[in-house]
Amino acid sequence: MPDQYHHKTARADFEFIDCKHEDQPFRAAFLEGMTADEKAIPCRYLYDERGSQLFDQICELPEYYPTRTETRILRDSARKIADLIGENAILIELGSGSSTKTRTLLNVLESPAAYIPIDISAEHLEASARSIAQDYPGLRVIAMCANYSGDYDLPDVDGRRVGFFPGSTIGNLTRDGARELLADWRKRLGPDSLMIIGVDLKKEKDQLEAAYDDAAGVTAEFITNILARANRELGADFDLSQFDYDSRYNEEAGRIEMRLRSTRDQTVEIGDKKIKLAKGEAIHVENSHKYAVDEFEKLARSAGYEPVACHTDPDRLFSLHILAT
Ligand code: TRP
Repeated sequence: MPDQYHHKTARADFEFIDCKHEDQPFRAAFLEGMTADEKAIPCRYLYDERGSQLFDQICELPEYYPTRTETRILRDSARKIADLIGENAILIELGSGSSTKTRTLLNVLESPAAYIPIDISAEHLEASARSIAQDYPGLRVIAMCANYSGDYDLPDVDGRRVGFFPGSTIGNLTRDGARELLADWRKRLGPDSLMIIGVDLKKEKDQLEAAYDDAAGVTAEFITNILARANRELGADFDLSQFDYDSRYNEEAGRIEMRLRSTRDQTVEIGDKKIKLAKGEAIHVENSHKYAVDEFEKLARSAGYEPVACHTDPDRLFSLHILAT
């Protein structure tokens, strides 16, 4: 059982479970990725404290339509969703970040049993859990510091389990990875549970590419922060001005691909390791897969779910799927 502690302040009270030690340390993951034939860094390391702040800024950018569109879909369909869920729900959020969208659901749910935010960024998780506990007195809040795809048991609370996975985070996995994650979570949630999941829809290339390469450069900074993090935490000596952010929509694969590209031949030191980069060489950082509605339903079925409903916005930019386990 992971160490579990209780955070009590004058006004708010929440539990905190730390499962992060089960994750691969940043150094090992980073070195493994940087010494592979095709250099890559796992995207979960984007979200240190600075990265989480930058990501929150991305969500407010004019080009980044997913956040506001999903929030609108949630608001417009909240009542219907609450009816489907019923009383006594245990809302379990995968990659909860600032828990902003969750409020839309918590506002309409009938006597929820608990809210369990799961996030890899401890600072961010604590702040959000505290803020939810303050604003929803009487709601049991159990924060879990963990990778959403990790292998751990959920706290044993009475009620109906409802997974909540907004933000098209599922799109950051490959299609096979998404199917596996969904199947794992179906088991973890157990029978008679629901999974509510936000999925970005396929659309015009220009609109997609703008969303992942904004004019203000926030997304570029977010992706580049992973090298800055290696400098801070691993004593690496990346010169950030020697890398360009490169993102494009791969139509065939149905995904945005995000990379950092070395602008010259260079050698970087990470502790006692030397890494060579050729001019133009890429470090792959992130993918964001896009799905048509029926394509995602098919994927969900192949992971053992039964699609119950799908809500979209009038412009069909984004979808919110409700799946039964
Ligand atoms: N799940 C989000 C998405 O794929 C994550 C994200 C948004 C993101 N903007 C990003 C990831 C920019 C990397 C870079 O849309």
